[in-house]
Amino acid sequence: MSNDLGKKGGQNNVIRTAVINRYSRVANEGKSCCDTSSGTKEIIKIYSEKELASVPEEVRTSNCACGNPLAIAELKPGQVVLDLGSGAGLDVFLASHKVGHQGKVIGVDATDEMVAKADKVAKSMGLGNVEFRKGFIENLPVEDNSIDVVISNCVINLVTDKEKVFKEAYRVLKPKGKLAISDRVLIDELPSEVRANLDLWSACVSGAIPEVEYLSMIKAAGFFDVRVTDRRTYTFEEATSFAKTVIDEAKRLGRETLDEKIVARAFLAIANDHIVAYKP
Ligand SMILES: C[S@@+](CC[C@H](N)C(=O)[O-])C[C@H]1O[C@@H](n2cnc3c(N)ncnc32)[C@H](O)[C@@H]1O
Repeated sequence: MSNDLGKKGGQNNVIRTAVINRYSRVANEGKSCCDTSSGTKEIIKIYSEKELASVPEEVRTSNCACGNPLAIAELKPGQVVLDLGSGAGLDVFLASHKVGHQGKVIGVDATDEMVAKADKVAKSMGLGNVEFRKGFIENLPVEDNSIDVVISNCVINLVTDKEKVFKEAYRVLKPKGKLAISDRVLIDELPSEVRANLDLWSACVSGAIPEVEYLSMIKAAGFFDVRVTDRRTYTFEEATSFAKTVIDEAKRLGRETLDEKIVARAFLAIANDHIVAYKP
């Protein structure tokens, strides 16, 4: 694994705790982790106006997407869908419209506040075909061979044991099932200071691994036809703006911060990929 924090087995619980603390803050404060310091809302670049209008404001404001797995999932009525790291539930709610009453969408997330928030919204929207489960995506609370499509949005980069996640996705998918994910991968080296920074891990930066390594892990889990269908990178202005947001957040929490140029370099090393793969 090409990141300093993730290499040390004993650090895994420290990383998990930092990640869960960050996303409980995001859920409690109703603040998207994807807005830049210049006020740009990432979510507007990722989803259509129609998609965003179909969910309540509190889902949009706690969203932390880096892509749109629904754009590559090709969901059909009646399918059973699983969202790994469902957060406030945006992708689950969008998927629920596509699979309809005959289908079902399950969201799994490790952060209590995210599960509670998504659950409350599902009830307020009167959606009978969605369910949120508390759990770790490395050890899914889901039956073998029970899912048609596994989706995920900006989550697997946060996990130290990514191989385990792909093996679990494979286990729960039915034969011919599809994996359709959006995640951050590396297309360049991360600065060493960034690789060792826990706040940047929780912000979906330091846990990212090289794209080639990421795709081979998916293949090693048993998937075939593993493809990157779309790759979005950041401009210098966007990278600088994201760096400012992360640094401002660290300052707000009284943490030590890294130099803005170094953090911006890290955002330039990242690609937001859309990836599809199939279980035989
Ligand atoms: C960057 S947010 C993305 C949330 C959602 N997919 C979205 O697009 O808004 C990451 C989410 O993954 C969850 N998460 C992080 N590590 C996890 C793990 N090991 N198992 C389950 N959920 C996890 C966090 O609680 C958080 O809700």
